[in-house]
Amino acid sequence: MDIQEKILARAGEIERIIEQYLPSEQGFQKTVISAMNYSVQAGGKRLRPMLMQEVYRMFGGRGKVAEPFMAAMEMIHTYSLVHDDLPAMDNDEYRRGRKTTHVVYGEAMAILAGDGLLNYAFETAFQAFDLAKAENVSCERVARALQVLGRKAGIYGMIGGQTADIEAEGSQSLEEKQLLFIHEHKTAALIQASMMIGAILAGADESAVAGMERCAYDIGIAFQIQDDILDVVGSTEVLGKAVGSDAKNEKNTYVTIHGIEKASADVEKLSRDALGILDEFGGEQEFLRELIVQLIHREK
Ligand code: IPE
Ligand code: IPE
Ligand code: MG
Ligand code: MG
Ligand code: MG
Repeated sequence: MDIQEKILARAGEIERIIEQYLPSEQGFQKTVISAMNYSVQAGGKRLRPMLMQEVYRMFGGRGKVAEPFMAAMEMIHTYSLVHDDLPAMDNDEYRRGRKTTHVVYGEAMAILAGDGLLNYAFETAFQAFDLAKAENVSCERVARALQVLGRKAGIYGMIGGQTADIEAEGSQSLEEKQLLFIHEHKTAALIQASMMIGAILAGADESAVAGMERCAYDIGIAFQIQDDILDVVGSTEVLGKAVGSDAKNEKNTYVTIHGIEKASADVEKLSRDALGILDEFGGEQEFLRELIVQLIHREK
């Protein structure tokens, strides 16, 4: 199997895990639950749970305690996309190869589906306490992982980054450090949480968790720069989402500030830096390293 096939196979395994944690579509709240599942089940690369699982294994984790967190992470990420696509934000109509949630279910239901996914993510992650008991894992690890999840998804993480992103629309003079703040928070934060939680649940020490935070910073910034590049040079058929969204919304991106060439070179450099950080740690890293290299040239 080449790396592309390995990644697809892994995404399939993760999809089956996520599926187990989705709420069933019944009761008077059936519509919002359908809208929640619609966006999660549309697919996606499942990068964040994949990174979580790999780091968990790299630090020796062998049980199922990370699984509810993997599902929770994908729910939070998906909610961020549902809200990001709303008319009041990026106003996009395609996502993961389908019409966006607000186009299919209406704006009110899309807002509620996002709220529902965010809340249900925590309801799901709390299930890790039961698994920890069954697997003789300290509950403190689960508590610490929840702290990281909450912070990196919130105003000091993803929501903070989305705020700065929206406020920077149309700005004539965005500074490099503001753009890095946006990238770090809107995108790197959930990738950091994923890798940190994998390490925490496997029982890694604080310095290793901090190492994963640094490594995921580089992966996350590279990932968002590549996303900005693909918004210019990609195609809707391959990406499954609209291209040209950033120009439409007068976003300042890494590409508008530095141009495609430097942007691509920096994706490569940041990814190499991430691999360099991994060198400080032992454990099984083969797939993780291949995944990071593959992301440099991703087309979706
Ligand atoms: C899109 O994330 C939003 C960004 C942070 C760039 P992904 O590119 O991981 O989207 P999916 O999950 O594969 O759909
Ligand atoms: C969004 O960045 C990051 C999120 C937190 C959702 P973008 O707005 O560039 O993501 P896409 O391109 O719509 O996926
Ligand atoms: Mg956006
Ligand atoms: Mg967007
Ligand atoms: Mg984008």
